[in-house]
Amino acid sequence: MGHLIEFQSVYKIYQMGDSLVHALDGVSFSVDPGEFVAIVGQSGSGKSTAMNIIGCLDVPTSGKYFLGGVDVSTMEDDQQAEIRNKMLGFIFQQYNLIPKLNVLENVELPLLYAGVPERERRERALRALDRVGLADKFKNRPNQLSGGQQQRVSIARALAGDPSVILADEPTGALDSRTSREVLSFLKQLNREGDTVVLITHDNSIAVRAQRIIRLQDGNIIYDGDAHAPEAVVQPSLVDVEDEEAEEWK
Ligand SMILES: Nc1ncnc2c1ncn2[C@@H]1O[C@H](COP(=O)(O)OP(=O)(O)O)[C@@H](O)[C@H]1O
Ligand SMILES: [Mg+2]
Repeated sequence: MGHLIEFQSVYKIYQMGDSLVHALDGVSFSVDPGEFVAIVGQSGSGKSTAMNIIGCLDVPTSGKYFLGGVDVSTMEDDQQAEIRNKMLGFIFQQYNLIPKLNVLENVELPLLYAGVPERERRERALRALDRVGLADKFKNRPNQLSGGQQQRVSIARALAGDPSVILADEPTGALDSRTSREVLSFLKQLNREGDTVVLITHDNSIAVRAQRIIRLQDGNIIYDGDAHAPEAVVQPSLVDVEDEEAEEWK
């Protein structure tokens, strides 16, 4: 099977007054089915820009993006929306659950928008809730659940669409460290069960739970490899390399 995600020299350039910001500065990588990848980097490194392009919420200024072998880098909005619904399951820091709907209705909602018939909707939503261990809570309102449980509902909502890629943007940003570990273990479990997971985070201690780390700095990839290699978590140096001390490293 080919790559599930493929960036070919992707640039995203913003005009800021007189200057140009290279949010992504010629980024190439690919993700294969079954991988668990963390895209990591400090604030401003280009993570959200990459996430928006991977998620078909934005297109590159130049370069190509293939999702499931299809070139989505030049698609119109409505085509993007279609492939987004078919291929991607989103998990956000804010769970974006609707307070007035119960857990089951929340999980069903994207399927409703996708035009899935009622009965199938219900079955798929219940199966997804079962995978996250919350089938018995299907009648509860979101505010009757803990933060960790609410995040699991949002994971079920992503799973119900049977996505090819689960795209999680700072999914533990609003959770305490214990609940974060639970959500992370949970994403790992989904990956063991065959799901492809792309996790966006600024936090090294989260990123190392993935198999592979892609580290961004100023719109460039400065590391792409094993999440458990020592180099994977080395923070980019802020020391000016022109500095004479740098000479001693050569
Ligand atoms: N819409 C925009 N207009 C101008 N500059 C932007 C825009 N979006 C992002 N940027 C700039 O692009 C760079 C990368 O931003 P972003 O992808 O949000 O990084 P991260 O998510 O890693 O914090 C930053 O310098 C940011 O200021
Ligand atoms: Mg961001």
